[in-house]
Amino acid sequence: MENQNLQVLVADAETALKSVSTKSQWEQIKATFLGPNGSLTQFAKGIGSVPKEERPAFGKSLNQAKGKVETFFKSKLTHLEDLEDIKSLGECIDPTLPASPTFSGGLHPLTKTKRRIISIFRKIGFTVAEASEVETEWFCFDALNTPDDHPARDEQDTLFFPSSSEWANVSRKKKESYLLRTHTSSVQIRTLLKEKPPLRIIAPGRCFRRDTVDATHSANFHQTEGLFVDQNVTVKDLKGVLDYFLRELFGGKIETRLRPSFFPFTEPSFEVDLKVPDLGKLSNKWIEIMGCGMVDPEVLGLVGVDSDEWTGFAFGLGIERVTMLLHGIDDIRHFYQNDQRFLSQFSSQV
Ligand code: PHE
Repeated sequence: MENQNLQVLVADAETALKSVSTKSQWEQIKATFLGPNGSLTQFAKGIGSVPKEERPAFGKSLNQAKGKVETFFKSKLTHLEDLEDIKSLGECIDPTLPASPTFSGGLHPLTKTKRRIISIFRKIGFTVAEASEVETEWFCFDALNTPDDHPARDEQDTLFFPSSSEWANVSRKKKESYLLRTHTSSVQIRTLLKEKPPLRIIAPGRCFRRDTVDATHSANFHQTEGLFVDQNVTVKDLKGVLDYFLRELFGGKIETRLRPSFFPFTEPSFEVDLKVPDLGKLSNKWIEIMGCGMVDPEVLGLVGVDSDEWTGFAFGLGIERVTMLLHGIDDIRHFYQNDQRFLSQFSSQV
């Protein structure tokens, strides 16, 4: 009998809580079940009239019923408090406002230029070649027909590593055989030793010179080398390829000219000048943009390529220089200072 009544009480509590929607209603209903005069409390008082031997069972059922009812009230309270939280948040959040901006990072301007250069040359069959930034004197100079007395080989111009004997005895001065490459032209030699012509490669990468840093010089900079070797290649092919490249980069209305120059590993050698109609302060002015020339037969012979059968051209351009021209950047140091105000201007991906 008592058990049945208890079950009814528990069920009543559950039903009564369903219609509760505020904390004060919850308090009131709670008092009617669990308060000093609540129905469960009253029920407990009836223990006096229960026969002695039935009292333990009565007490057990009572405690179970009380536990259930308390759990109902607890979970209802949590639910009511959650609703209150959601309501108060809803009052201060305007879901129609735009989301706060997220910073997703971006590519460095030099990486972007490098990628643009690669994609332009890829369209005409060039592949990318890479080589180490630490180079031997032979690859950097000797194999490129650059004599011992050339200024590039001077300690003032090149970052040499001490030879192993010098590591042991630092005071002994001796001409070094390892250095940080001063240009990407060493990749010409590495490629010619690895691959048989015909070949077309570009070799973008980091170079190093013992330069004093100023607005246009950095001891650490980037170049892109180009090498094209095939049968019957002439200066006309060189000019055609470079014109195509510069048009893709600076627009269709540019003019170019080849001006005689000298590099030990190309013969003849040229500087490429460029005139762009809309380039800020440099509009319609001749600007020197890159070095190039026909690969010297001496160089081909040295790496075992028959220069009667194969001819080629090579070129080299500074990635910093091109980026500065494209974007009107006046100081090379901006590239290396990691200033977000500068870098974020280039952060959208190409
Ligand atoms: N390596 C030369 C430099 O650093 C550029 C160059 C490359 C010139 C290829 C001709 C051919 O100045």
